Formats: sequence, structure tokens, C-alpha cells
Amino acid sequence: MHLFFFGSHPKFSKLEVDSLVSDSVYIGNVGALANCDEKTAMQAFQKSGGIPKFGKVIADIQSTDIQELEKVIAKTLADTQTKKYILSFYTNRFSFPQIGRLIVSLKQVAHRPKFMGKFNKKVQSPATVFHLLKKGGAEINVIEVGNSLLVVQTTQVQDANYWTLVDFEKPHREKHVGMLPSKLARMMVNISNPQPNTYIWDPFCGLGTVLMQCELLNIPSVGSDVSGQAMTFTEENLQWLQQKGLVPELQSETFIYDIKYPRLPDEIRPLSISAVVTEPFLGKMRSRPFDNMRDAIHEWEREVKPLIKSLLQAAYHVLPAGGMLVYVKPVYSYIDNKRVKWYNPRVEFDAKKWQQLIPSDGSYIWNNEEGTILKELGLLMKHK
Ligand SMILES: C[S@@+](CC[C@H](N)C(=O)[O-])C[C@H]1O[C@@H](n2cnc3c(N)ncnc32)[C@H](O)[C@@H]1O
Repeated sequence: MHLFFFGSHPKFSKLEVDSLVSDSVYIGNVGALANCDEKTAMQAFQKSGGIPKFGKVIADIQSTDIQELEKVIAKTLADTQTKKYILSFYTNRFSFPQIGRLIVSLKQVAHRPKFMGKFNKKVQSPATVFHLLKKGGAEINVIEVGNSLLVVQTTQVQDANYWTLVDFEKPHREKHVGMLPSKLARMMVNISNPQPNTYIWDPFCGLGTVLMQCELLNIPSVGSDVSGQAMTFTEENLQWLQQKGLVPELQSETFIYDIKYPRLPDEIRPLSISAVVTEPFLGKMRSRPFDNMRDAIHEWEREVKPLIKSLLQAAYHVLPAGGMLVYVKPVYSYIDNKRVKWYNPRVEFDAKKWQQLIPSDGSYIWNNEEGTILKELGLLMKHK
């Protein structure tokens, strides 16, 4: 049994886990338990964007008795050669003095472990655990599930340096064009359920974030954009992946195409496309909220809604039955009575053509601190 921990956007992580492993069971917002072997867990973890770490379930203590817990951890520590540990508690059941006593008695078991970290804090920073594991240390997580405790030893942690590299060191990352965070792009690609020997199409490829993730996952992809400059930037970003040795050879194709053009692009016609994954134009980038709701509605109605309508039409034509359209759409901030409020426009779609797989009620919003325009995930499947 393995536990996939959820990242900062648990709902997104859940969708991704469901696309990567079958039959998982959720433990609140902490993570998902999957009845799979270590190899399968490792493969799912390596493909993911929203699973910051995964671990092996060592014990399921059918009580919340701290002495029982101590026995299990003591045995685990005695069985390993490791000396540095982090104990992460996903429960508020134990007081700080109780945990202190637990640590004192654990220190008496073999190998004299050195404990690190802030006990009783809900989540350990993945970066701390990553470095600890790299140096041969270990993390043991204690998670309260109903009336029992799950003890999980962390197996792998996401490498923050890898994500920083693909997000911030690629040659083009112009903020004014808008840029999808790479982890979100990765999740969107996974959620799109790509099929073998088929392509993913991003018709608003911008700087190529989705295409880069397809390349890194070895999925054939095709990208288009109305802007010639965006295409050049996309191609340079993709070439950079190869120069960095992150992919052996490139397999994506790119071309200029205006999504409003009524005919499908010739480049797309011969390809078998199983998913459309994209971040359309969300409106002009803004450093502050709209002055009022009317302006936000105006931006949506005039600038963005027609593009999304065209996107739905094009996606419907290229996708086979069961094919997925994964997109983000804007949620605008505006000022009302000196307070910031949010306008979350609805995407209109034909329910006879599409099945909506997640609600559009604000529960799948990707937050970032400085955002005046947030991104809401949309997931539509062409009816079978
Ligand atoms: C938010 S950006 C996409 C950014 C991209 N996801 C990335 O991370 O690099 C939206 C893109 O839509 C493109 N665009 C705007 N209108 C378009 C249209 N009518 N047809 C195709 N692309 C369009 C813009 O040129 C821009 O590159």
C-alpha cells in the first residue's frame, strides 16, 4: 500500500492521482492511498506534477494510542541504518509534551536517531525532506484516519530544482504573455488521459509550457498560436529542453493558426488527437483588479468568451468520442466598495456534445499570491 501526498491544490492532485493509478482511496486532503507495488507507485510519482511525495504504509494502527505508535516507529528505526529522521504529524491528537516523550524514548532504540523538524506542524516542507532523503535520512509520517493512525515512510520527494529549472530557466518566460505554471501544465496533461500513439493539441501554445510537459512525458504533441512570435518562443523553449538533455529528441510540431478561423488547420487533419490541453488567452494581464464588475464582464464577453467558443468548436471537431478538452479559464478580481471581489464567468457548452467532468463552481481554482486573474480548471469529455 502506498500513499500519494497531495500538493498545495489537493483537488487538482486528486484528479491527477485518479488519472495515474486505479482504485485509490482519499484520506481527507492529505493524500490518496493506492494498493499498488513500489514500481507502479514510483512511475506514477515520476509522471506527476501535483504529488509532492509518496511513501510506503508501514502500519495501520487500529487505535490512536501513542504507545502503540511508539512501538511501530521504534521497530522501523531499529530496522534501518538511518540516523536522521523527520517525524511529521498529520494529526492534532497528541500534545507537544506527549510527542516530546515519544521522541525521548525513541532515542533509546538502536542507531541513536537524530530527530529534526518541527513536530506537530501539519506538513513538512518537501524541500527539507528531499535533502534529508538525499543524505540517507528518513521521514516518518503519522496520519490520523478516523479512529486509527497510519504510519507512512516517505519513499520519494519531488525535486524542487527540476521544477524551478523548467519554470524559470527556459529562454522565454515573458510574464505579459501569461504563463501556465509547469506543474499545473503537467497535471492538465495527465488529467487529459493521453492515449498511446495519439497527439495532444494546444491551440494557444504561447511559450510552449504544455508542449514542454508533453515532451518531458514522451507524448507526441502539436502546438499552434495566432502569434508568430509566440511560435518562435515556443520552438526555442522546446529546443532548450533538448540542449539541457532533458529530452533525447523533440517530437512536437508547431504552426501558426487563429482559433477563430472556421476551417481546421491542415497540419491537424492527418493527426490522431486524443486530447486538447490549453490555456486560452485569459484577458490582458493586469497589475490590479478591475475598477468594477462591469469592466470584468466586458473583458470576458468581448475578449475571452468568443475565443473559448471557438476552442470548443475546434476541439469537438478534432476529438474522437471520449476525447478530453482540458483548459483553464479566467476568474477576474474587481473592486466593489473598496473590497476585492471575484467574477467567475461560466463557459457555455452544449450538454449534448460534452460531458462536464468537474463542476465550474470555484472549487478547482489555481491560486497564486499576486494573481489578479486566477485560473479555473475546466474538464470536458466529448460524449461517447
Ligand atoms: C495565456 S497565453 C498562453 C500561454 C501558454 N499557456 C504558456 O504557458 O506559454 C494565450 C495565448 O493565446 C494566443 N492567442 C490569442 N488569440 C488567439 C487566437 N485567436 N488564436 C490562437 N491563439 C490566440 C496568444 O498569442 C497567447 O500566446
